[in-house]
Amino acid sequence: MTQKKLYIPSLLGTNRKDRQSQHVAQWVHSEMEKRDEIDTKLFDVRDFDLPHDNYGQELKDEFPEWRDAIIKADGLVIVTPEYNHGYPGALKSVLDLLLKEYIHKAVAFVGVSAGPWGGTRVIEASVPMVRELGLTVTFTDLNFPKVAAKFDDAGKLLDEAYEKRVQGFLDELIWMSQTLRWGRENLPSKFH
Ligand SMILES: Cc1cc2nc3c(=O)[nH]c(=O)nc-3n(C[C@H](O)[C@H](O)[C@H](O)COP(=O)(O)O)c2cc1C
Repeated sequence: MTQKKLYIPSLLGTNRKDRQSQHVAQWVHSEMEKRDEIDTKLFDVRDFDLPHDNYGQELKDEFPEWRDAIIKADGLVIVTPEYNHGYPGALKSVLDLLLKEYIHKAVAFVGVSAGPWGGTRVIEASVPMVRELGLTVTFTDLNFPKVAAKFDDAGKLLDEAYEKRVQGFLDELIWMSQTLRWGRENLPSKFH
C-alpha cells in the first residue's frame, strides 16, 4: 500500500552552550532522514528568540515556521537532556507556544544524560506535560546515558548498538503517527 509520507519534525530541547544533546539530535535527525516513510526537519530551541516576560499561544504567530510545522505534523521527536530530573525550561517554553495544533499526534522521546539512566526520569516527568498538549506518547524511548562517552568531538556516534535501537524507536513512532493520522482523517472529533 502506498502511503503519503508522514511529516515528523524533531526538536532539540536545550540551549545550553556546551550541550551534548546536539550530537544526539543531529544523529537521530540523520537517521530519520534515511527513512522513506518520513519527511523531517530539525528544530532547535536555541533558534527561538523568546521574550522574558510572556508565554504561550499568544506568541505563536511570532514563530510561523514552528507553528506551520506542527500544524502539518503527524508526529514529533523531542530530544531532551535531564536537568535535575526534569526538562529544560527552554523546551517547555517552546512547546507552550502551541496547544490545539498538537492534538491527536504522536510524540517520541530521546533522553540524554551525563548519569547512568539516559534521561529516563526526564521522560517520565515529561509524559503528563505532553498529555496536556494532546500528544500521544510512544513507549519505545531512545536513551543516551553517559552521553559524553557516546560521541567523538566531531559528533560521530561511537556505539553501533544504536543503529538497531533507533530503527525500533522509529518503527513505533511511524506506526503511531500513521494510526493517529488515519484517525484524524476518518473519525470525527470536536478537536480537529
Ligand atoms: C542544570 C543541570 C541539571 C542536571 N541534572 C542532571 C540530572 O538530574 N541527571 C543527570 O543524569 N544529569 C544531569 N545533568 C547533566 C546533563 O545530563 C548533562 O549536561 C548531559 O550532557 C546532557 O545535557 P546537555 O545536552 O546540556 O549536555 C544536569 C545538567 C545541568 C546543566
